[in-house]
Amino acid sequence: MPIKLEQILKRVQSLPPLPTSALRVIALTKNPSTSVKDLESVIAQDPALTAGMLRQANSAYYGYARRISSLQEAIVLLGFQVTQGLAMASAVAPLLRTDLVGYGIEQEGLWKHSMLTAMTAKRLCQHRKLPYGDVAFTAGLLHDIGKLVISIYVQEIGDFLLEKVNEAKFTYVELEEKVIGFNHATVGGFLAKTWFLPEILVSAISNHHAPSNAQSYGELSCVIHVANGLASLLGIGGGVDSFLNPIQQDALDRLSLNENDLELLMAELGEFIVDPTLFN
Ligand SMILES: [Fe+2]
Ligand SMILES: [Fe+2]
Repeated sequence: MPIKLEQILKRVQSLPPLPTSALRVIALTKNPSTSVKDLESVIAQDPALTAGMLRQANSAYYGYARRISSLQEAIVLLGFQVTQGLAMASAVAPLLRTDLVGYGIEQEGLWKHSMLTAMTAKRLCQHRKLPYGDVAFTAGLLHDIGKLVISIYVQEIGDFLLEKVNEAKFTYVELEEKVIGFNHATVGGFLAKTWFLPEILVSAISNHHAPSNAQSYGELSCVIHVANGLASLLGIGGGVDSFLNPIQQDALDRLSLNENDLELLMAELGEFIVDPTLFN
């Protein structure tokens, strides 16, 4: 009973749009002639975004010894790419914190899984000396947004999907495709387009379960694929599909990652998650 594309698109459109301020931050950070003042004035008009950005900038993850108390300071200190990521984080956090009944995800589970994937993706870039760690952070944060759209369909047929997965014939993503007609990565790509996100993010979101299919930005798609696989192994907030997302050897080869690298990244992930403020 594959679901028609129009139904999926309708649901994509029925999701709340990103706040205008977040969309403007994305547009401004894409433009090299933007000044700190331009960005500051857009963010400052949105109290929720301002508060969210300062809270994130002061979280233990960024590791600044002193308190960042002004927007201007946060933008200068963290840079435009991180500012874009923080703006996205505070704009999508309320969406990612909703309960996704269909996937059996614990409360705030998608938020936690997304943050862990984002951090792992950025760390992986640093580890492999790839120059786009901050973009990878944002892509990691957003990689599973398609689940917001199709969780309702998964809810209706979840038991059937699980039964099939347990027969171990298909991965969860393959089953989404077979039964619903689309997987959450493809649907996430639709959603990212309706939010006018940069093409690099659309590509990484769309291809995070099949990075070798990426027409562009294949390397970043591999980074998100591996980061998602590692974050899923922690068993935090992943839901029913979390152990059924094997990391593809092709992606590891493309990034020249071996067992030891993965163990190192997992150990670092383990250090992140003991921090109680991490998911604030
Ligand atoms: Fe996913
Ligand atoms: Fe994921």
